[in-house]
Amino acid sequence: MTNITVLISGSGSNLQALLDAQKTGNLGQGTITQVISSSATAYGLTRAAKAGVPTRVHALKEYYKGIPKEETEKRKQQRDKFNRDLAEILVHGLNRPDLVVCAGWMLILSPAVLEPLEQANIGIINLHPALPGAFDGTHAIERAWQAGQDGIISKGGVMIHRVIAAVDQGAPILVCELDLKKDESLESYEARVHDTEHAAIVKGTRLALAEIEKAEKTEKTEKTEKALESKKVAGNPGNAASTSQDQPASQASDASDTREDSRTVSQGDVLLELAAEVAKLGV
Ligand code: GRF
Repeated sequence: MTNITVLISGSGSNLQALLDAQKTGNLGQGTITQVISSSATAYGLTRAAKAGVPTRVHALKEYYKGIPKEETEKRKQQRDKFNRDLAEILVHGLNRPDLVVCAGWMLILSPAVLEPLEQANIGIINLHPALPGAFDGTHAIERAWQAGQDGIISKGGVMIHRVIAAVDQGAPILVCELDLKKDESLESYEARVHDTEHAAIVKGTRLALAEIEKAEKTEKTEKTEKALESKKVAGNPGNAASTSQDQPASQASDASDTREDSRTVSQGDVLLELAAEVAKLGV
């Protein structure tokens, strides 16, 4: 099972797509074990509660309480504390994830969040309603639509990408292109974007999960190979003698086991020892 924490800020329709996928067995090994919202009024919290997923609110406005906008330095300090506390929740919280999915999370995640996640080997991906390098940041859907109406571009789209400090510029995992249609209304284009997002968030999360599972399998294989290698080396006759002489009694049994292994490994040695025994008997 691969634990997923979903970060949201609003209606949570992309969270709903993930919850539905999990319910129908279409999220692979992924299990959504926590939803964190940057807003206490996000409808996504209701969606999570209905699905029985633990939720918590981590609201920046709670950190800014009582600090006027003009006090920028104090707000900056509080923003940094907000990020560090979020990292603490993710890395050391009850529902520690293997993967964090930003599904409509509207706040920039600073290195104060990303570095502890990387050190803890927790992946983080984001849904962004634009093509790589096209419209980073907010209002991407409207900006892409307008550029299409102005004839500047002919393609919009949606991507799932790795999260790095540079906003919406992490390596894409999944890119879904959409044609921009002349004279199409913004509402019509936005509806196509959201439909595409709901499929992309599931597919992109599954791709990220597959990468985690592949990395885990590789790690297990490497550990097994190292263990076999060290057993083989320990089983070498020259090493077995030194092992039994050097090890305390409690580990001698290991050495004798190892010696047994070495005898099965070098039958020649066994025959030499038997010949010596026979010679002693004068037979
Ligand atoms: C999505 O369009 C997403 O691309 C953008 O915010 C919206 C979130 O929608 N960042 P929801 O909260 O998942 O319904």
